[in-house]
Amino acid sequence: MNKKAKWTRSHYCGDLRVEDVDHEVVLMGWCQTRRDHGGVIFVDLRDYTGISQIVFKMEISEEAHVLADTIRGEFVLAVRGKVAHRIEGNVNPNLPTGEIEILVETLEILNQSQTPPYVLENRENVDEKLRLTYRFLDLRDSTLQNNLMLRSQAMQIVRNYFTSQRFFEIETPILTKSTPEGARDYLVPSRVNPGLFYALPQSPQLFKQLLMISGYDRYMQITRCFRDEDLRGNRQPEFTQIDLELSFTEPEEIFKLTEGMMVQLFEETIGVKVEIPFPRMTYQDAMENYGSDAPDTRFELKLKDISDIASECELRVFKKVVDKGGVVKAICVQGGAEFSRKELDDLTEFAQIYGAKGMAWIKRNSAESSGDKSWQSPIAKFFTDEQKQALEERVGLDKGDLVLFCADTKKVVYDALGNLRKEIARRQGLIDENEFRFVWITDFPLFEYSEADKSFTSSHHPFTMPDMDDLEKFGENEPEKIRSRAYDVVLNGVEIGGGSIRIHRRNIQDKVFHLLKFSKEEIESKFGFLMKALTYGAPPHGGIALGFDRMMMFLLKTDSIRDVIAFPKTQKAGCLMTDAPSAVQNEQLDELHVRLKASAQQMEQ
Ligand code: AMO
Ligand code: AMP
Repeated sequence: MNKKAKWTRSHYCGDLRVEDVDHEVVLMGWCQTRRDHGGVIFVDLRDYTGISQIVFKMEISEEAHVLADTIRGEFVLAVRGKVAHRIEGNVNPNLPTGEIEILVETLEILNQSQTPPYVLENRENVDEKLRLTYRFLDLRDSTLQNNLMLRSQAMQIVRNYFTSQRFFEIETPILTKSTPEGARDYLVPSRVNPGLFYALPQSPQLFKQLLMISGYDRYMQITRCFRDEDLRGNRQPEFTQIDLELSFTEPEEIFKLTEGMMVQLFEETIGVKVEIPFPRMTYQDAMENYGSDAPDTRFELKLKDISDIASECELRVFKKVVDKGGVVKAICVQGGAEFSRKELDDLTEFAQIYGAKGMAWIKRNSAESSGDKSWQSPIAKFFTDEQKQALEERVGLDKGDLVLFCADTKKVVYDALGNLRKEIARRQGLIDENEFRFVWITDFPLFEYSEADKSFTSSHHPFTMPDMDDLEKFGENEPEKIRSRAYDVVLNGVEIGGGSIRIHRRNIQDKVFHLLKFSKEEIESKFGFLMKALTYGAPPHGGIALGFDRMMMFLLKTDSIRDVIAFPKTQKAGCLMTDAPSAVQNEQLDELHVRLKASAQQMEQ
C-alpha cells in the first residue's frame, strides 16, 4: 500500500472519546510533554482542538518506542495506533479525552523543534516582549487560539447578519488619499509618481459615502484602518472596523441594525442575551452626570453640580472658580466615610493626574448621635448650617458616606471626577464584570475648540451633518453650540463605535469646511472628488463604524487588545517578531525618490 495514504489524519487530538476504543486512528500534532515511566513513554499530543495521550510500549512496537525516546517538546508527530481505555488511576477527568489513550503502532517524526525560549504552558509569567518576539509560539497557547477562533466566528456572524439585511460587502482602497479621522496618516511613497504619496485609510469614510452616491444603498465591510496616533490600552495603529453606510436613512434605523447585530453576536458567541433597545443619553447629560462621553453605566456615583451652593460658602477657591466661569462638582460615595486618610490622599493624587488642583472632602460619620449631622472635613467650617443642609440634599449625603469635591474649569472637573468615579467603583467592588451595559450617546457638538491650535476641529469628522435646527448658528459666533447628528455606542464605559448622518449637500459641506478654516485650494486638493460627487445627486445617507477589536475584548473578557489580534504591535507601533518597521536599502529609497534626513539616519544606527 502507498505509504502516504496511510498517513491521512483520521481525527483531531481533542476528538477521541471512549466510544472510539478499539478503533484505529491517525493523529498529528505537537508534543506538549513527554514522560518516561519505567520504559513506557507517554506523550501529550496537541493540536488546536486539545490533547490526546499517546503511549509507546516496547511490546507493541519496538521501532516506535525507540524513536519515541528521541521526541522532545514541540516536535511535530504523526502516529497510528489503537484507541484504548486508560487504566484505572490514569483517568484524567479534567480532560475531554481523559478516559482514553492511543497505543501507538507507528510513529513518524514530521519535524523537530528547538527548545522553546520559555515554557509555553507558563506564558502568563513570561515577559510579553519575549512572547511577542516569538509570537508564532505564543499563538500555540490554547487561550489565544480560542480567542482567534471566536474572532473568526464573530466575523462570520456579523457578515451573515448584514448580508441578510441587504448589505453588500464592498472593498475600498488601502492605497488612497487621506481621510481625516483625527489621527496622523501613514504614508506610502509612490515610485512611479516621484514626490507623491498615498495615505493608508484612517477609515473608509469617503469611499463609503461615494458608494451611497453611486446607488449601492447599503454597504458594509470588515476592514482594516490605519492611524498613526499615540497608543494606549485599547488602541492599535492598525485595527479592524465593522463599517456600515446606508442611504435614505435616519439614526433610528442605524441604531436598530446595530442593536440587532449585537444581540446576535453576543448570543451566538458567548450565550449572553443583550437587552435592546439600548438606552440613550445626550452628550450633555453624559458629561454632566458622568464626566465623560463614554460613561460606564454599570454603577451610579454620578457627578452633582454644587456650584451655586459652593460659590456662597466662605471657601475662597470655590467662589473664585465659579466667578471665573468654572464649576464645583461632587460625588457622594456610599459607605465612603470608612476611607482612611491615606486612601483619601491617594485619591487626591489620582485626581491630580487629571489636572485637579485639589480635592476637598466631607465625611459624615456613621456613629453620630441622632440628629447631629457632624461633618468631618477640612472645609466644614466654611459652610453655614443651611448650606450644609442644601449640600447634603443635593448630593444625597447620608450617614457613613463621603463626598469628594473638585472645583475647576469644566474640562478639568469632568476629567478628574469622571475618572475618580471609575477608580472608586473599582476599589469598592461596585462593578459587575458579567454585566454588559450599552448606551447610545447622541447630540454631540459638531465642533470642539482646541486650546492648543486655537481653532475649531470636528468632534466626529468634517462630513457629519449639523442638526438642522442649529444651522443658523453657523453665522453666529459660537460654533461650539451647533449640535451634530453624530452618535456613539458605548459599552461599559468604552466607546465601541461611532457614526453620523452625513452632509449630502454641497453648500452645507462648504459651510463646515469654511468654519474649520480650510481654504478653497485645500478643499479642492483634499476633497475635490467628494465636493464634485455631492453635486451629482447625493442621496441623504449615514452610517456607523464599530471597533471590532474592542468588541472582541468584551466577548473574550480581556483587558489587552493584543489578546484578540494575531500579530499585534507594541506601544511603539512595532512588531517585535518581524522587526517592523525597519531600515531599507538606499537603492529602494532612491527608487522611491526619498532621502532620509541626517537625524533619522543617525537615530537608526
Ligand atoms: P471612529 O473614528 O469613531 O469613526 O472609529 C470607530 C471605532 O473604531 C474603533 N477605533 C479603534 N480601535 C482600535 N484601535 C484604534 N486605534 C481605534 N481607533 C478607533 C473605536 C471607534 O469607536 N469613519 C468613522 C465612522 C463613521 O462615521 O461611520 C470612524 O472611523 O471603537
Ligand atoms: P486650601 O485652602 O488650599 O488649604 O484648601 C482647602 C481644601 O480645599 C483642601 O482640602 C484642598 O484639597 C481643597 N481644595 C483646594 N483647591 C481645590 C479645588 N480646586 N477643588 C477642590 N478642592 C480644592
